[in-house]
Amino acid sequence: MSLSDLESEKGDADGLLSEDLVQSPTHKAASTKAVDFDGLLTPPLLLREDLTSGNGGQAWPAGMILGKYLLRRKRDELQDSSIVELGAGGGLCGLAIAVGCRPKDVVHITDQQPMQALMQQNIAHNNLQDAVKASVYDWGNPRPQDIPQPDVVLAADCVYFEPAFPLLLQTLQDLIGPNTVCYFCFKRRRRADMHFVKAVKKMFLVEDVTDDPDSASYSWENIFLCTIKRKPGR
Ligand SMILES: C[S@@+](CC[C@H](N)C(=O)[O-])C[C@H]1O[C@@H](n2cnc3c(N)ncnc32)[C@H](O)[C@@H]1O
Repeated sequence: MSLSDLESEKGDADGLLSEDLVQSPTHKAASTKAVDFDGLLTPPLLLREDLTSGNGGQAWPAGMILGKYLLRRKRDELQDSSIVELGAGGGLCGLAIAVGCRPKDVVHITDQQPMQALMQQNIAHNNLQDAVKASVYDWGNPRPQDIPQPDVVLAADCVYFEPAFPLLLQTLQDLIGPNTVCYFCFKRRRRADMHFVKAVKKMFLVEDVTDDPDSASYSWENIFLCTIKRKPGR
């Protein structure tokens, strides 16, 4: 199912489709695991997961899907791109790209203040101090001075809290320049998530990613992967 199909889909009531994020498993003990994106990442990423400071402290399915897609299809493009990840949590996608693509520019992984320590730990675990920088970037706030206008924006599982939708939209407007592509992967949990999709489509050119061989399987889980770009002439 594509994003367009999803928009016209009827049937689900306005309520919750899934509470997996709302009721995150806060009792899960902190641990470190090796993530190799089904063999696409050598060496694997060492990812510390710790939910003490928020639900971004674990790898979410949309982050795994986005990371795998980028490693499979976009290595060359990413090598030459300046990259900013939004709502990075522990830094899953940005760190994976730093290990797998070795971009020429520093990769900026960003999130709110409570996630900074975990991002720093994961940078250190993987010896990426020279390749990745963690920063506080609260959606809706001006772009921090050390964050460049990027060629590529990464955002995985950032659509889940309705009051944050306009803030995220504002940040996409601030970051997506005429030559920027945002790789955006999200899980639709509530019908309200489509309000965000509609608002993004009004403002940007949104296209389904069509070259991911895994897409049929994750669309069954209501996970969608698309690109977001500036509309021509804007
Ligand atoms: C579900 S987690 C996804 C984490 C990671 N991208 C992944 O896929 O594993 C959503 C992330 O968005 C971040 N976030 C939520 N609201 C935010 C805001 N207003 N500004 C910046 N980050 C925010 C959270 O802190 C959290 O780390």
